[in-house]
Amino acid sequence: MNGMDPQTLTELLDVSVLDRLDRIEDLPADELARSSALRKEGYSAEVTAGLLTQAQLRRDAVKKLGPFAEDMLFTRDGLAQATRLPVAAHHARRLLGEGKDTGGDEGTEGSADAADSTPTIADLGCGIGADSFAFAGMGAQVTAVDADEVTAAIASFNLRHLANASVEHARAEDIDTSAFDALWFDPARRTVGKGTKSGSTARIFDPEDFSPSLSWVIDKALAAKAAGVKLGPALDHSLVPDEAEAQWVSHLSEVVEVCLYFGEARQRPGRSALVMGERTLLVHEDDLPADDEDGVGELGQYLLEPDGAIVRAGLVTALCGPLQARRVHPKIAYLTTDVEPTGPASAGVTIYEVTDVLPAKIPSLRKALISRGIGSVVIKKRGADIVPDQVRRQLKLPAGDKATLVFTRLGDRHVVLLTQPC
Ligand SMILES: C[S@@+](CC[C@H](N)C(=O)[O-])C[C@H]1O[C@@H](n2cnc3c(N)ncnc32)[C@H](O)[C@@H]1O
Repeated sequence: MNGMDPQTLTELLDVSVLDRLDRIEDLPADELARSSALRKEGYSAEVTAGLLTQAQLRRDAVKKLGPFAEDMLFTRDGLAQATRLPVAAHHARRLLGEGKDTGGDEGTEGSADAADSTPTIADLGCGIGADSFAFAGMGAQVTAVDADEVTAAIASFNLRHLANASVEHARAEDIDTSAFDALWFDPARRTVGKGTKSGSTARIFDPEDFSPSLSWVIDKALAAKAAGVKLGPALDHSLVPDEAEAQWVSHLSEVVEVCLYFGEARQRPGRSALVMGERTLLVHEDDLPADDEDGVGELGQYLLEPDGAIVRAGLVTALCGPLQARRVHPKIAYLTTDVEPTGPASAGVTIYEVTDVLPAKIPSLRKALISRGIGSVVIKKRGADIVPDQVRRQLKLPAGDKATLVFTRLGDRHVVLLTQPC
């Protein structure tokens, strides 16, 4: 179940319908006008709805898949669960072994050696095929498998230009995985629309209810030569097997996943955080300070907000050394420095200059902000039990300058830091 029935997909896969989809931007942008134009051209109500949905999903997908989205088909759930392409490329590098020759187009086409050295990857629960797209694009021979008929057909369409990828409509549990060089798992972690018209889904909390279940996936991953398992970033650390490397990943400041790597795909045991964006930063558990010091100190001129992947991985104090920073509180994930950090580790934090420390009580805070000419605030919080929108309403500030307010704690004191982003 994924919001599209097989019959609608079959109709959409007709060459002339696909051609109409590719040219849909020629029609008026207004949805109603676009719909009646398509009906006038003779498309049924179902196909018209399918074309409009695909056009919208292609536009939405550009954020994840770049220009490739314009040539792909989606289901709404499939797109929501698809890996962003730069992150999928990172998965591919990990499964293929960084810097390892993948036996790609080196001018040895057709030779037995080249064929033998091409690594094989099974993507077991491939969705619309975003990870497989990267695996095959980077030279692997890919077998992509999905238990959902429509999703498998869409993956097949999306991978059609990659001769080294094939798609099977099957359950992962029924695939013989023994012959593959690497296995990739991205288990479904949301319920499928249970009879609701909108097909809305809900998050599954028990890993045994993932599909396939986490214990089955981990058993397979442990037995594989190399394997990667993509999971939600809120994963309980106690579920990470000792044999795995667990890497939390953020992309453009959004925490997108934790991946467990096994066998040859595991580079360094333990926890790590990978920050992907304009700059990249890798922080590893081994970078944590050796002593048991909590690293708390006086508030300095700068407040540093660590990237969410670093927070989720439990590696905030690993930044203290490289940034010459201290924590503002033993339990709160903010750091502070006297000098604005500039080195490579600064890619792992958002930096704010602290201009004042204000009281947290709303009437006194309001007075203090108005007297400083502040009229528009971004509200951040850690270690403070507030609802930012509610606070903004209660403050009722008259028009004025912009500032970022950080509700947090310094020792036992609840305070608001008046800051400006650097
Ligand atoms: C999170 S999505 C995969 C997204 C994919 N990695 C991507 O980037 O596009 C999980 C997929 O697993 C499929 N699935 C669920 N249970 C499965 C099973 N037992 N065997 C194979 N596929 C399964 C679902 O239909 C869904 O498409």
